[in-house]
Amino acid sequence: MRRLSVPQPIATIGDFEGAAEKRVLAELGPGTLLMAGDNPALPQMPARPRLLDFYRLRFSNAARSHLLQSAMLARKAGHGEKIVLACLLHDIAMGALMRTDHGYWGAQLIAPYVDEEVAWAVRHHQALRFFPDPAVGYEYPQAYLRFWGPDYEVPGYLKRDFEAAREHRWYMSARTITLYDLYAFEDNVNIDPGEFEDLIGRHFKQPEEGLGFDNSPTAHMWRTMIWPDNFL
Ligand SMILES: [Fe+2]
Ligand SMILES: [Fe+2]
Repeated sequence: MRRLSVPQPIATIGDFEGAAEKRVLAELGPGTLLMAGDNPALPQMPARPRLLDFYRLRFSNAARSHLLQSAMLARKAGHGEKIVLACLLHDIAMGALMRTDHGYWGAQLIAPYVDEEVAWAVRHHQALRFFPDPAVGYEYPQAYLRFWGPDYEVPGYLKRDFEAAREHRWYMSARTITLYDLYAFEDNVNIDPGEFEDLIGRHFKQPEEGLGFDNSPTAHMWRTMIWPDNFL
């Protein structure tokens, strides 16, 4: 049985004629159906997925490595477990879900399972990345100059969220993520996700039924990562 993956609407915005979708649907026929359930091209997820299953079986090597490096740097610097967890999770949305506004998606994804402060820090690290904080040695990232040029104007909602965050009691938690974000893009650093198994056990409430199947407000987001190509 062949299964067809139709591109997600958000990946084909601007294709007003639906050409990409029509191309795939034209192949439907006997022995060729639309994707439903496990995509044979992806590693098989366990029936009750746990957090690290997503790191191991769904995230790109680059995304996994970046998150593990961030967490390891924070741990080596002596930060508490909540901050280390926040670093481990900070770009989780970019693992296998959504790049755009990834801090906000990521915070929402993890909110049912972590301390409120951890989700808050993940949400706000995205805005804080754009704003230097010389008091703690955080400078505007050189990479951002390359990405968007020197005249880039930070969008209003990020300015607003940065200004609110600056006054918040958890500001330093989000700021600390940005400190270990900057230096966590080394190639050839191989960290076993299992290094953080115990910490996750203490600070991430893994549901008995598995992530995606616990009927939490974000279970559908986890299922989308398990079955990213399902037609519906
Ligand atoms: Fe980020
Ligand atoms: Fe990051």
